[in-house]
Amino acid sequence: MSARIIDGRAVAAALRAEVAARAAATGCTPGLVVVLVGDDPASAVYVRNKDRAAREAGFAVRTVRLPATTGEAALLGTIAALNADPAVDGILVQLPLPGAIRTGAVIEAIDPAKDVDGFHPLNVGRLARGEAALVPCTPRGVMRLLAASEVALRGARALVLGRSAIGGRPLAALLTAADATVTLAHSQSRDLPAECRRAEIVIAATGRAGMVRGDWIAPGAVVIDVGINRDAEGRLCGDVAYAECVGHAGAITPVPGGVGPMTIACLLENTLVAAIARRGVQKSEQRPARSQSP
Ligand code: GUN
Repeated sequence: MSARIIDGRAVAAALRAEVAARAAATGCTPGLVVVLVGDDPASAVYVRNKDRAAREAGFAVRTVRLPATTGEAALLGTIAALNADPAVDGILVQLPLPGAIRTGAVIEAIDPAKDVDGFHPLNVGRLARGEAALVPCTPRGVMRLLAASEVALRGARALVLGRSAIGGRPLAALLTAADATVTLAHSQSRDLPAECRRAEIVIAATGRAGMVRGDWIAPGAVVIDVGINRDAEGRLCGDVAYAECVGHAGAITPVPGGVGPMTIACLLENTLVAAIARRGVQKSEQRPARSQSP
């Protein structure tokens, strides 16, 4: 048996087109500002890709570039100005931040209504309570992929591997809200292979290349790989040993071309959701609540 391959590029392209069409239909041009502090090369690539995708969707997007020497007070001043600017619907401060800037203080300074990363404690708390919230983009992307692949979540045994604040934890909350029976496993869990074999849905978000092996996967299970790692030869690879697991799984995401493309598509979706909420666009012009709830 060979697994169905879940095509994240195709699902992401469809979502980006849908977001652009919804923005046009509501007559709303969402405003997004990406803040990049310093000159980390990987961050520069991510920021360029976010800027380009938002432009292609018809958003009013700009990148604010600040030097690596920027202090915390200056960055907080920039955020205060963006919070106060009515044309700005979404603020994304690219992480990691350089120097002695406290990441937590910066995230907490962002207006929660403009927090399109879903990192602000108010949005984290709302998600934990099962309330509508701006949700981190990668976990939102995973849920979109599962929905597009028609994976039934109600009552299903889902295993989340990894407990990071922007990966495993919000994923566990989203799967719980979708009525799955969720296990959140991590580096201190006993017998990860046995936990995995019990699961009908396995979501790997550990940051450890090729950690999930073929014989961990129950026949027919759905495997979602959130990992973005480099192997010994420098090639992009996930947290799942893909060549082994593809023969056991019922459906699986590749790396690259699985979860990765969904993250930017969901950033656009979050920005549109924030714009509609902030501008009080008529409910009748919005899509059904299903597409906006956590
Ligand atoms: N750096 C790596 N991933 C992310 C992300 O999703 N959001 C932000 N703001 N920075 C990141």
